[in-house]
Amino acid sequence: MTHEFTVPEGEVRAAEIPEPGAVTIVVPTFNESANVRQLLRQITDSVPGRLPCEVVFVDDSTDDTPDVIREAAQDCPYPVTVLHREEPVGGLGGAVVEGIKAAGSDWVVVMDGDCQHPPSLVPELVATGELAGAGLVVASRYIKGGSRAGLAGSYRVAVSRGATWLTKSLFPRRLHGISDPMSGFFAIRRSMVTADLLKPLGYKILLELAVRSRPRGVTEVPFVFQDRFAGESKSSAREGLRFLRHLAGLRTASPVARMVVFGLIGATGFLPNLLGLWALTAAGMHYLPAEIVANQLGVAWNFLLIERLLFRDRRHFRRLWDRLGRFALLANADLLLRIPLIALLVGRFGMDALPATALALVTTFVLRFVGTEALVYLPRRGLRGSSTTARESRVNDNSDRGTARRAA
Ligand code: GDD
Ligand code: MN
Repeated sequence: MTHEFTVPEGEVRAAEIPEPGAVTIVVPTFNESANVRQLLRQITDSVPGRLPCEVVFVDDSTDDTPDVIREAAQDCPYPVTVLHREEPVGGLGGAVVEGIKAAGSDWVVVMDGDCQHPPSLVPELVATGELAGAGLVVASRYIKGGSRAGLAGSYRVAVSRGATWLTKSLFPRRLHGISDPMSGFFAIRRSMVTADLLKPLGYKILLELAVRSRPRGVTEVPFVFQDRFAGESKSSAREGLRFLRHLAGLRTASPVARMVVFGLIGATGFLPNLLGLWALTAAGMHYLPAEIVANQLGVAWNFLLIERLLFRDRRHFRRLWDRLGRFALLANADLLLRIPLIALLVGRFGMDALPATALALVTTFVLRFVGTEALVYLPRRGLRGSSTTARESRVNDNSDRGTARRAA
């Protein structure tokens, strides 16, 4: 990541040292040229008089949004920065994390660029966090005084409801005290954000932060989700699928959870296995070779599901045929290993056949899981993730009034 900072060394003045109670407002934008001027105006009207602020746009636009921001920033009494990304890695969530990383103030407020989140609430979010000693303050549509007036149509309301319910049931403890984990409007203490642990994927950046960074002390403030000022939502069915992948990734972050999912997927493999056996024997094949072939069907089925659901973001370490080959080898070794292991447990250790079989099943299952993780889906030595580039520029000269920036 290459950043370009406009504050020259040696010119950092006292006013730029982060002061408690100052805020960096991070705004992700994707083609919001018709909204950003209005947003900056609303911020000017309601924030700097009550709280020193600075605005950081993280922009993935293909239109002239950065230019419009640059022009509108000339009328703003606080520093405005545009960080334009060449590659929109992680989408909305990835953009927000970039903005948070660049923030030098104690508090960061994240809000949308389309005026659906009222800037007048920014000082209140921070004040509430300071008063309560909280690390995270969520602007919620689902507590008394809040509403989702601006959520267009009953379809979106139903989807939003269902998603909130599903998410809360998957993370009952981590999301305790957060009625609106889907909100895109919140204040967080910079020190609570473990940026390196985050793997943002699409829209639900609050969920990502709450689950992976686990900020201490969470409180909420009600807000009314406004109508978009101009343009249309950038969310789509594709974004919905991304959300489900995001959920799966978050839920399988711990090895135990991954092992459970691995086991559940394995259990579903019985179905193609038995179906295959039935079809092959019905076609006249001897049952022994049929067993072997049918087992491969189960292996292929498991491989497909595991690739889609469990190790989706770890596929790139090896080529497809390499992964499939290793996976199939491990799955068949499991079968080959089980029989001698049972014989050993019964013959050497005097166990009964049934408990010996159960123990062998569990043992080979754990071995297979550990083997699959380590031999198929772990990075090979010398293989590292690629980084992206971003251009950043302060677009007005109010740096003396802002909060200090963090060198990346
Ligand atoms: N940088 C960047 N990159 N910004 C993006 C991207 C992207 O790929 N996609 C969207 N944005 C920006 C938009 O320009 C806007 O400023 C903000 O993110 C929200 O996008 P919208 O398209 O307006 O989202 P929404 O109104 O449908 O959804 C909002 O409300 C939901 C609650 O119903 C968001 O705040 C969601 O996070 C929230 O869950
Ligand atoms: Mn919106």
